[in-house]
Amino acid sequence: MSALFSPFTLKDVTLRNRIAVPPMCQYSAVDGFTNDWHQIHYPSIARGGAGLVIVEATGVSPEGRITPDCLGLWSDAHAEGLARIAASIKSAGAVPGIQIGHAGRKASAFRPWDGDDHIPEGDARGWQPIAPSAIAFGGGLPRVPSEMTLADIVRVKADFVAAARRARDAGFEWLELHFAHGYLAQSFFSAHSNQRTDAYGGSFDNRARFLLETLAAVREVWPQNLPLTARFGVIEFDGKDEETLAESIELVKQMRERGLDLLNVSVNFVIPDVKIPWGTPAFLAPIAQRVAREAGLPVASSWGIDNVQDAERVVAEQQMDLVMIGRAMLANPHYPYALAQALQVERPDWTLPAPYAHWLERYRGAGKVAAQ
Ligand SMILES: Cc1cc2nc3c(=O)[nH]c(=O)nc-3n(C[C@H](O)[C@H](O)[C@H](O)COP(=O)(O)O)c2cc1C
Repeated sequence: MSALFSPFTLKDVTLRNRIAVPPMCQYSAVDGFTNDWHQIHYPSIARGGAGLVIVEATGVSPEGRITPDCLGLWSDAHAEGLARIAASIKSAGAVPGIQIGHAGRKASAFRPWDGDDHIPEGDARGWQPIAPSAIAFGGGLPRVPSEMTLADIVRVKADFVAAARRARDAGFEWLELHFAHGYLAQSFFSAHSNQRTDAYGGSFDNRARFLLETLAAVREVWPQNLPLTARFGVIEFDGKDEETLAESIELVKQMRERGLDLLNVSVNFVIPDVKIPWGTPAFLAPIAQRVAREAGLPVASSWGIDNVQDAERVVAEQQMDLVMIGRAMLANPHYPYALAQALQVERPDWTLPAPYAHWLERYRGAGKVAAQ
């Protein structure tokens, strides 16, 4: 009996297995709208057999996009194409999820294959980023953001709520708030990037305020019977990890009390030049397990879980409830089929759409064997 291929229920949503496709920017939109690329990419991935497919970081406002090529959800017109994507993911048997976010001081960058750096000031393709404090990220993202006024904070929270409402109406059943990776929310919580002296900076409670208020406001419009989740970096790998982890877990507890149903455990990415143990497979798994245990909620995580042993082990050993598999799914959208075969799951063709399964499995007799 494979742990990876056991179903997972959260609120009224049941995933067919523990494999989730994490949000992965496609950098292929114009003015935030979906186009043929997104309409083909998402159902193709969903058809691969994962239980959950989360649509890429989608900007709650134009200035909240990471690049000019990112998706947006700041108008009802943007929701139309996303509704078609939600429906196509669902008809492929996966639960449709979406990540909504604001890129903060990391916004207004070129897409990765055009350099990944900030678009230079004065270039009409870019815009002025905003952040809790006027502190640049550095490295290839040197642009100094404008410090947000209290009115900006109120507006961005409202943008999150409006985007969540549109995601709900578009048919998404799983919402992920992007509170990670050095983007706006994460940069509010980190003292590296937040040096405000008002109610949104300084003490733990003040640095946590933007995240908790946004979460609570979204919870009011996101249906109670559907999972409200967040992606949040709990560790920076800057040498102060125990302190960061302890603070982060306290915040996750408070998020749970305000209605968070699951945390997608990730890395802070608030400062450049940190020592992330990229070479260690599933390096976040023990950290995810600690967050689950101490904050008392289900967790998902990713980063380097790209082989059958690790994918099965992290679920079987209860290090995480869901395994987020990103790049391996890009390399092979039918990766879950390969995992199911390797784990000798009975009827691995369940991970395939019927028009493929018949030829790849049943015709070879695998179905008959399982039926005996
Ligand atoms: C092309 C690409 C785009 C990504 N875009 C996002 C994103 O929109 N939001 C996010 O939280 N993480 C994003 N990530 C990180 C992935 O969600 C995932 O955590 C990462 O790829 C590690 O998992 P993996 O080792 O299975 O690929 C992206 C990663 C890739 C490769």
